[in-house]
Amino acid sequence: MRQKVLITSALPYANGPLHFGHIAGAYLPGDCYARFQRLIGHDVLYICGSDEHGVAITLSADLAGKTPKEHVDHFHAINQALFEKLSFSFDYYGRTTWKGHIATTQSFFHALNQKGLIVAKTEMHLYSEVEKKFLADRYVVGTCPKCGFDGARGDECQQCAASYEATDLQNPRSKLSGAPLVKKPSEHLYLRFDLFKEALKKWIEKKQWKENVVRFAMSYIDDLKMRAITRDSDWGIPVPGYPGKVFYVWFDAPIGYVSITQEWAEKNGHKDKWKDYWLSPDTKLVHFIGKDNIPFHAVFFPAMLMGQDLPYKLPDEIPANEFFMLEGRQFSKSDGWTIDLEEFFTKYTPDQARYAIAANAPETADAEFSWKDFQLRCNSELLGKFGNFVNRVLVFAKQHCGGRVPQRDSLHDVDLRFEQEIARLLGEAQEAYSTFHLRKATQILMELAQTGNVYFDTKKPWALAKREETRGELNTTISLCIQCIKALALIASPIIPTTAQKIWTLLGQKTDLAHQNWKEVARREIQAGEVLPPPEILFRKVEDAEIEEQMVKLGKAGVLQREPIVKPEYPLEAQTPLEPVKGEILFDQFDKIDLRVALVVEAQRVAKSKKLLKLLVDIGHEKRTIVSGIALSYSPEQLIGKKVVIVANLAPATIMGIESRGMILAGHDGSLLELPHIQSIRQGSVIS
Ligand code: 2FM
Ligand code: ZN
Repeated sequence: MRQKVLITSALPYANGPLHFGHIAGAYLPGDCYARFQRLIGHDVLYICGSDEHGVAITLSADLAGKTPKEHVDHFHAINQALFEKLSFSFDYYGRTTWKGHIATTQSFFHALNQKGLIVAKTEMHLYSEVEKKFLADRYVVGTCPKCGFDGARGDECQQCAASYEATDLQNPRSKLSGAPLVKKPSEHLYLRFDLFKEALKKWIEKKQWKENVVRFAMSYIDDLKMRAITRDSDWGIPVPGYPGKVFYVWFDAPIGYVSITQEWAEKNGHKDKWKDYWLSPDTKLVHFIGKDNIPFHAVFFPAMLMGQDLPYKLPDEIPANEFFMLEGRQFSKSDGWTIDLEEFFTKYTPDQARYAIAANAPETADAEFSWKDFQLRCNSELLGKFGNFVNRVLVFAKQHCGGRVPQRDSLHDVDLRFEQEIARLLGEAQEAYSTFHLRKATQILMELAQTGNVYFDTKKPWALAKREETRGELNTTISLCIQCIKALALIASPIIPTTAQKIWTLLGQKTDLAHQNWKEVARREIQAGEVLPPPEILFRKVEDAEIEEQMVKLGKAGVLQREPIVKPEYPLEAQTPLEPVKGEILFDQFDKIDLRVALVVEAQRVAKSKKLLKLLVDIGHEKRTIVSGIALSYSPEQLIGKKVVIVANLAPATIMGIESRGMILAGHDGSLLELPHIQSIRQGSVIS
């Protein structure tokens, strides 16, 4: 029986358009893997879909003046269209607002509940008398209980990075209406994840996953506690017996993998076929995710699966990728730090994008898309090495071999070595794809194209064409080059499927390459005498002027100068009420604050935090470390060499295990921060 391989890519939130940062993490690696597994002959089912619940979605919808349903319908369609544009090969792309998802989520809950794994707890939550509802953290602002910053978020202070419960905030109020909030008791359900500690540990210990996945998962397991799985909301999967409550989005989203598979089965007329994948011990289950999703896929969802009555398959592989940025900084639509994909695809092909992303896949460290690199990948690799080899061979065959694959003559050492190289690189590509090394696969592809070019140059078929006695050698040369092109098409197929198919057709093949068998294609030669259709150019050159235009576009948005953009996606100014001025203080009190100019000499992100940067600043007489919550507005690269204003005599505080000595001052407006501009005077200077 064929090996069943169930592949998932993290369900993207239908809460905004996807960008290349997402595509590089959980999606392109998943699609290439699925395509390769199909070529190997396995029984592949590749599942994905939109994650459509949660507070982030209701908040964005509220701010945009839409219903949550309108909001998710809009982004579901946009994201699905992008996947289609990029030739994604999902067997099914569903959504968690599909009606069948309700019963499946609730059945997961019932199974856990019946085993006594769910407990109810009543705790204080923030309630708005005006909106007549409990408000989730993200809907709340107030005064930070640690530093007194007013306008602090419901879960974490953007000024001092303290994290707390929303009920700890002073003067809490609704982010939307500004209405004051009161504490009221509300009962919520908790899942006893703590009871899965040993089982999870034992299970993960046997896995040979990437080191970061195991380390991250184990650190969560060590500290596993019960977690609330319900929320007060009317948008989500209803909790049976608890009107006004829905399941927490991270409870229902991974169950979406199962329910979307069920929808696929239903649509294909075999209602129970989902069980062949999810309930069979022989299935290989592979979750493609970004690193921020590790705990949910390696700890929480497996625990939920272990707590079911049905024999659900646990994940076999969790190839988690690091982050993928744009020119060194996180993609951000609201900052204008992004690529307009609609425009992109009027100029470049999906395969060019797929190749450039695969070649820089963030497998072991954060990586980036840069326009210069894109141009280089397109021009010197796709066009210069790969396209050039295919084209020169096919044009030569048309001119000198009557447009047919020639019959090879005897093989000399150089020919045999070439054949061996093709076989070796095919084997290496197979290994790279099987072990999730997409970058390596692109390198092997280019190595083979270059090997082909060197062979062609060494054999000089144009010289062999001049004499009848060397006709046999010419035929051997072109015949072997054609076999090399076939191998190139095969290796390229998972990454650049459209181009690979085009090449397959240019080799006179009438079938669909994606449906062939890897071993078969690798072994079987393109037959002598096969008619070769007229050659076609595979890639066009990307001109310098185009790249400059793109860079200017980023610059036009204010970012080439590496300054943050004060342009929120939603009109936050209108929503966030301005704070009244604080009570009067005496000059003596103000004078106690030692404000200084500091030069940022080093900057790096703080692990496990999206907002924090660890900075080393020079204040003239000394250098010191400051942890600052400005990572969403500034990248480390933007800050190095910049002067900032700090409170130099603030008592040290330990933030995420790092001692921070001082505080960086910034203006804030909603979630946007902007540093004051002092660049000419020297570091250490006093500000008064
Ligand atoms: O991080 C995200 O984009 C989540 N929507 C991923 C969910 S994955 C799965 F569990 F549904
Ligand atoms: Zn604070």
